[in-house]
Amino acid sequence: MEIRCLFRLSVLLLFLCSASRAQMPGFLSLDCGGTEKHTDTLGLEWTPDNQAIFGGTAIVSTPNEAQRQYTTVRYFPADDKKYCYTLQLQNRTRYLVRATFLYGNFDRSDVYPKFDLSLGASHWSTIIVSDENTIVVKELAFLATLPTVSICLSNATTGQPFISTLELRQFNGSLYYTTVETQFFLSLSARINFGAENNDSVRYPDDPFDRIWESDSVRRANYLVDVAPGTEKISTTNPVDVSYGEKPPQKVMQTAVVGRNGSLSYRLDLDAFPGFGWAFSYFAEIEDFPSDNTRKFKLFVPGMATISKPTVDVEENAQGKFRLYEPGYYNISLPFIFSFDFKKTNDSSLGPILNALEIYKYLQINSGSQDGYVMASLVSHYTQEDWSHEGGDPCLPASWSWVQCNSDSQPKIVSIDLSEKNLTGNIPLELTKLTGLIVLKLDGNFLTGPIPDFGECINLESVHLENNLLSGVIPSTFADLPNLRELNVKNNKLSGAIPRELVDKHISFNYEGNTGLHIQKHGVNHTIIIIISAVLGLCLLASLMAYILFKQKRSKILQKGDAVTTQSTKKLSTYFSEVATESAHKFSLSEIEEATGRFQKKVGSGGFGIVYYGKLKDGKEIAVKVLTNESYQGIREFLNEVKLLSRIHHRNLVTFLGYSQQDRKNVLVYEFMHNGALKEHLRGAAARERSISWIKRLEIAEDAAKGIEYLHTGCSPTIIHRDLKSSNILLDKHMKAKVADFGLSKPAVDGSHVSSIVRGTVGYLDPEYYTSQQLTEKSDIYSFGIILLELISGQEPISNERLGANCRNIVTWATSYIEGGNIQAIIDPSLNDDYELQSVWKIAEIVMMCVKPQGIQRPSISLILKEIQEALSIENGSRSVSDQIMVGNSPTTSLNLAAVDSAGSERNTSLPYVFSQPGLR
Ligand SMILES: *[C@@H]1O[C@H](CO)[C@@H](O)[C@H](O)[C@H]1NC(C)=O
Ligand SMILES: *[C@@H]1O[C@H](CO)[C@@H](O)[C@H](O)[C@H]1NC(C)=O
Ligand SMILES: *[C@@H]1O[C@H](CO)[C@@H](O)[C@H](O)[C@H]1NC(C)=O
Ligand SMILES: *[C@@H]1O[C@H](CO)[C@@H](O)[C@H](O)[C@H]1NC(C)=O
Ligand SMILES: *[C@@H]1O[C@H](CO)[C@@H](O)[C@H](O)[C@H]1NC(C)=O
Ligand SMILES: *[C@@H]1O[C@H](CO)[C@@H](O)[C@H](O)[C@H]1NC(C)=O
Ligand SMILES: *[C@@H]1O[C@H](CO)[C@@H](O)[C@H](O)[C@H]1NC(C)=O
Repeated sequence: MEIRCLFRLSVLLLFLCSASRAQMPGFLSLDCGGTEKHTDTLGLEWTPDNQAIFGGTAIVSTPNEAQRQYTTVRYFPADDKKYCYTLQLQNRTRYLVRATFLYGNFDRSDVYPKFDLSLGASHWSTIIVSDENTIVVKELAFLATLPTVSICLSNATTGQPFISTLELRQFNGSLYYTTVETQFFLSLSARINFGAENNDSVRYPDDPFDRIWESDSVRRANYLVDVAPGTEKISTTNPVDVSYGEKPPQKVMQTAVVGRNGSLSYRLDLDAFPGFGWAFSYFAEIEDFPSDNTRKFKLFVPGMATISKPTVDVEENAQGKFRLYEPGYYNISLPFIFSFDFKKTNDSSLGPILNALEIYKYLQINSGSQDGYVMASLVSHYTQEDWSHEGGDPCLPASWSWVQCNSDSQPKIVSIDLSEKNLTGNIPLELTKLTGLIVLKLDGNFLTGPIPDFGECINLESVHLENNLLSGVIPSTFADLPNLRELNVKNNKLSGAIPRELVDKHISFNYEGNTGLHIQKHGVNHTIIIIISAVLGLCLLASLMAYILFKQKRSKILQKGDAVTTQSTKKLSTYFSEVATESAHKFSLSEIEEATGRFQKKVGSGGFGIVYYGKLKDGKEIAVKVLTNESYQGIREFLNEVKLLSRIHHRNLVTFLGYSQQDRKNVLVYEFMHNGALKEHLRGAAARERSISWIKRLEIAEDAAKGIEYLHTGCSPTIIHRDLKSSNILLDKHMKAKVADFGLSKPAVDGSHVSSIVRGTVGYLDPEYYTSQQLTEKSDIYSFGIILLELISGQEPISNERLGANCRNIVTWATSYIEGGNIQAIIDPSLNDDYELQSVWKIAEIVMMCVKPQGIQRPSISLILKEIQEALSIENGSRSVSDQIMVGNSPTTSLNLAAVDSAGSERNTSLPYVFSQPGLR
């Protein structure tokens, strides 16, 4: 089934395609790896990229995808080069570019590919394949500022870069105009057609610009969830006037959802957020209702009270029925999980309506190498040569194969190597404008004419022009280059006087084989001089090489030495500060025995040993952990751990008070936590007495996340807990949570240090860590996700009591419900419905991120903490509002929440506020 072509070892591909060849003006549809033109059922004409001479092609076959353009891919070597498609554009025009990737296991590999996609010099997206049969789609809207654009694949961290299709669609007029369009691209996160009649997306020909409007009835995992009760689809066959703004297709505007019970509510996972974005909603009144009815509603975004909530009256705002009204935000800060509600105002008789929605993220444009224009001009003289078609920026995201750049954010070119490329004609003058150039190699070509003046390239160290057909004199300005160490013009047709200054300069200078050359001034026999200088040159060369070798070696030694000294100084100073100021208190064994009444009251046990209750003479209650002897191999290891523990201080970490080491007993002393482990409160005896409320659970999650955040980000080196679980989250007198058993973990110095033995508890253990043995902070994130699931459900991580296939594991059990949109099924019944569904959803969404199979896909603890805090503010917000309502004795439905809110503000009808007005753009 699989056909493979070897890729040419020489790199890159250029592909200049004239957009006008496609059936729609400004449309280009490339079928990557394809061999023939074909037209699909939509009427789009696909062009094979078989003019591309680089990369391999492969046939793929996937169960649910029969479209011809998805039966092939083009793939590239996983090296440090970039592979670019260069497409022609009309300057000053806005375009949509869409790249799609259907892996289909084209390479029969065990690893899924992961690589970067860029547009010109700007990073666009990192393509992460996590399923071989799902198409990854990336879309970007941008303004053409040049006649071509390059879309490049590079930086494969796993697998090989590949691509299935590349589509270019030209926009019209002012669509997607922003005032910052020369600084930012718009990268698509969501484009949704609400009330869609079926699962099919709407695109060309319904959308003349071939945007893909996804149906709201397709439920991608975590994508569009939580449809409010009373949400109904409506549609019309009447024409809708869509001639404003972004001109959404009429077919999209002819369907909508309405909130019959007063509200519409949705939650979306926004790809690539948090960040700043462009977010617009599309409304049109498409329902017939008696004229004494009204439809007015407001937008609510939980946790984003700063967003103003002007009233939308679609009919009034659009100045009529069946007309588009397009309010939105040009620049809004959005979270990764975006929840929003439209709620009717209390003077409105009908619930809200929503036809469509679009959200893009702003991506900063990288203007690329400072030498970009010069190089574009340079390669334009060599259109026949492969090396001139590498595409994109000369330096970013990877440099052209014959170019080297420095590492500035706007890099300069430092080296050009065009040796033996059969170049003819003059030396291109562009080269003399590369002011950062250090090494220039043009040797072994057929270059003719004079050597230009390189006086501006003041950093030049090495110039190779030998074995060409250059004529004329050697410019004296070479002598002014302060760093010049090597100049080779051997075997050319140079003539005239060799500048005296060059000969006197102590550089390696080779001008043999130029019969017309003579040294300035002195009438001495040339040949002797040439021989002498050749000998001199050789000596110089030898000494130069010796010097370079010495210098390299020395700098290596120096670097090494630097590293050693800084490291050891650092170590020493931290060591001293610890010993001096924070060194752990050492208890005597008799003190411990007295405090614990000779180890009478056992309060817990774990992988490391048994924990006893104790009380010091001063009345302070302590927990004493007696480590099993196997825990440590020697005294030194134990003391190292103690030292580590004594430098970790945080209010959400159980306080370490000291240690004792005597008679082969290793003892650690901690503050005593009165309310024991979280686990007991979810499922143990404490839970049977009184279950903890949802809001308390959120506070516990917040506390624990703060503790973990400190371990991950506040300690250097980072500390990975390695054994997070609900029995390691302890609660104090005031039910404040603290993380315990940290630090018995090793600091994350490097991969090898921490990969020794897999540690952790079944049910909490990160599957990636288990298989790879490579420990990262993200393993803690997985375990924390399990704890969050326990908080939601009260369930054990592994349980034989849950029924159904594979449901022993809490992740598979909960995922099936969460992805199905039925979160109620997993919420702990002992919470007695005393929670805001919104906030539970928020936590469930974050859990789904935490338990992603690949650590890299999991969020950081800081992001998790932020989401927990947002869930808390939803919960707290609802409480304060419902308190008000309770005073007034009204039932607490969400409808009434909206009513309270709108009653509080003046009737503020049609003026469209932050939103933009159609027709004004
Ligand atoms: C493209 O348009 C911009 C702005 O009008 C102009 O500065 C630039 O020179 C144009 N580029 C080309 C190659 O025409
Ligand atoms: C390559 O990808 C890795 C992982 O995604 C990233 O950390 C690194 O910065 C990328 N390198 C470049 C040069 O873009
Ligand atoms: C683009 O704009 C021109 C003129 O404004 C119009 O004639 C043409 O129909 C538009 N194309 C599309 C696809 O809307
Ligand atoms: C639409 O997609 C959903 C899942 O996303 C599926 O359950 C449903 O059966 C599909 N409907 C049709 C008509 O194909
Ligand atoms: C929606 O409203 C209708 C009538 O107003 C009511 O019968 C129904 O129970 C409501 N549904 C929900 C889920 O609130
Ligand atoms: C959006 O607003 C933020 C904060 O006001 C600002 O930092 C950012 O540059 C803006 N982004 C764009 C694309 O305008
Ligand atoms: C230069 O020309 C020779 C002879 O035509 C050819 O063999 C060689 O491959 C060419 N080199 C390059 C780099 O094109």
